[in-house]
Amino acid sequence: MGLLENKVAIVTGAGSGIGEASAHRFAAEGAAVVAVDIRAGKAAEVAEAITEAGGHAISLGANVSEADDVAAMVDETVKRLGGLDVLFSNAGTIRLGTAVELSIEDWDLVMAVNVRSVFLGAKFAVPAMRERGGGSIINTASISGLHGDGGAVVYAASKAAVINLTRAMSTDHAAEGIRVNAICPGTIETPPVKRMMQDEAALQINLAAHSLGRLGQPEEIAAAAVWLASDESSFVTGEHLVVDGGLHSRSPLGRLADPRPKNMR
Ligand SMILES: NC(=O)c1ccc[n+]([C@@H]2O[C@H](COP(=O)([O-])OP(=O)(O)OC[C@H]3O[C@@H](n4cnc5c(N)ncnc54)[C@H](O)[C@@H]3O)[C@@H](O)[C@H]2O)c1
Repeated sequence: MGLLENKVAIVTGAGSGIGEASAHRFAAEGAAVVAVDIRAGKAAEVAEAITEAGGHAISLGANVSEADDVAAMVDETVKRLGGLDVLFSNAGTIRLGTAVELSIEDWDLVMAVNVRSVFLGAKFAVPAMRERGGGSIINTASISGLHGDGGAVVYAASKAAVINLTRAMSTDHAAEGIRVNAICPGTIETPPVKRMMQDEAALQINLAAHSLGRLGQPEEIAAAAVWLASDESSFVTGEHLVVDGGLHSRSPLGRLADPRPKNMR
């Protein structure tokens, strides 16, 4: 029996990368999955692939930064699948630049897609989860929410906001049996990252920064999301689960013994 048997799960950003892998894994664990993406065609392709593999999935096109779209996303889910148990608010975007370089539009876009979406997701999903007596909300943050990632100031700010929004909402809804957690991925080989890693210098820096010496795979984040979605994590709420191959815990100095300083025993 799968970990998500009899559960209905929405996955946003399901048309690509982490969301796509998670939609597949949730379905493989027995969930009825709603694959949501602003690119409705991509979400439909993923739902079709899940169905062909024997799983249960439908798709919806929605912009997760728009209140009407998110309200409709939850309404449709309840109408078509009978309720809602899991929301994986995963859709996100990035704009690179310093505070000087980024435009105000960049700031507003990234905060809307990465943070307002998480707020809206909970706003409309919590009432539906109450009807089921509980649920699990998982939000995709990032290691960038824990570090001062220069050159990505709005992205870093948005992901830090996701982490603390997660904590605050977990406090509000714990008594209703609704758990709220975040995941902080390291560098994961999704289509946008693959494009960035075509730059050999960027690739080498990223490989060296992860203690495991490689980039992560979308399926490795999906595995963490399944655990947080399932009853296996029933005593976990308000947490941000770091899934980063050792990136966050690694000292910028690396191993102090490489090379060992001459006058050290
Ligand atoms: N890949 C990484 O290294 C990495 C690391 C840390 C965090 N993340 C986060 O993981 C999440 C998924 O990223 P990914 O790497 O899989 O990217 P991706 O580009 O492969 O997938 C993101 C999906 O979100 C969709 N999307 C974008 N804006 C949307 C909107 N407004 N409404 C609905 N859907 C929208 C896109 O169409 C796309 O299909 C993001 O929140 C990202 O910030 C990724």
